[in-house]
Amino acid sequence: MAGDRNASLPPRVHGVPVHVAIVMDGNGRWARQRLLPRAAGHRAGMEALRRIVAHAARRGVAVLTVFAFSSENWARPPEEVQGILRLLAQALIDEVPRLHEAGVALHVVGARDGLDPQLVQGIEEAQRRTVGNTRLVLNVCFNYGGRWDIVQAAQRLAARGEPINEASLSAALALAHVPDPDLVIRTGGEQRISNFVLWQLAYSELFFTDCLWPAFDEAEFDRALQAYAGRQRRFGRTPEQALSATVAA
Ligand code: IPE
Ligand code: IPE
Ligand code: MG
Repeated sequence: MAGDRNASLPPRVHGVPVHVAIVMDGNGRWARQRLLPRAAGHRAGMEALRRIVAHAARRGVAVLTVFAFSSENWARPPEEVQGILRLLAQALIDEVPRLHEAGVALHVVGARDGLDPQLVQGIEEAQRRTVGNTRLVLNVCFNYGGRWDIVQAAQRLAARGEPINEASLSAALALAHVPDPDLVIRTGGEQRISNFVLWQLAYSELFFTDCLWPAFDEAEFDRALQAYAGRQRRFGRTPEQALSATVAA
């Protein structure tokens, strides 16, 4: 049952999004500006992620979902792809003890095919180790695509002969353990989604920044939270209806 996989979340903080999702874009351009190889941009991107995980938890965000490697990123030069795979493997060794200490539950979300069995084992161990943590849920979308997710969910329901409706499909998605993102941030200046959380962003607030991911810091994250706090979420209702729903909540 999908319900059994629901992550335990910390209490919500008024005005702060429960779930923030980020397209971490701009590593390559950050490196190029500094005449460094793209791999250096990905390494710096990992450091930015470390800072933002700590800061998001401090701000009371319950779920942070980051896009680290897309289904389409396999089309990049093989050396770059290998470098990113090595970076994930290394992060599982270096970062997981720190994450565990900080009370973070790690989920690596995406297809396992195409990944080295040893890497898959490392992912599963990290998930098992941190599963009971409740300070922050960190979903790292790796070998992930929004379309892949919808298809794998529909295929699983069909194979089990289960009805396909909004509730059953939502529950079969790879992110079924968390609520839909309230806020989706994209760094790097592009205003597109690039096959991220397609199903779940139906009513997410969007925030685009020119800041390249390795330069994304606590202050820029706070700007996104501030922008979010100023939005009125209406979910199809009138402004007046939405206002009375917020007052009632
Ligand atoms: C995001 O940065 C990381 C991945 C997609 C793996 P990019 O590598 O896409 O950086 P740019 O967009 O080329 O600057
Ligand atoms: C989106 O960035 C994927 C990740 C951040 C992992 P891309 O750099 O792959 O997106 P496009 O190709 O510019 O749309
Ligand atoms: Mg990019």
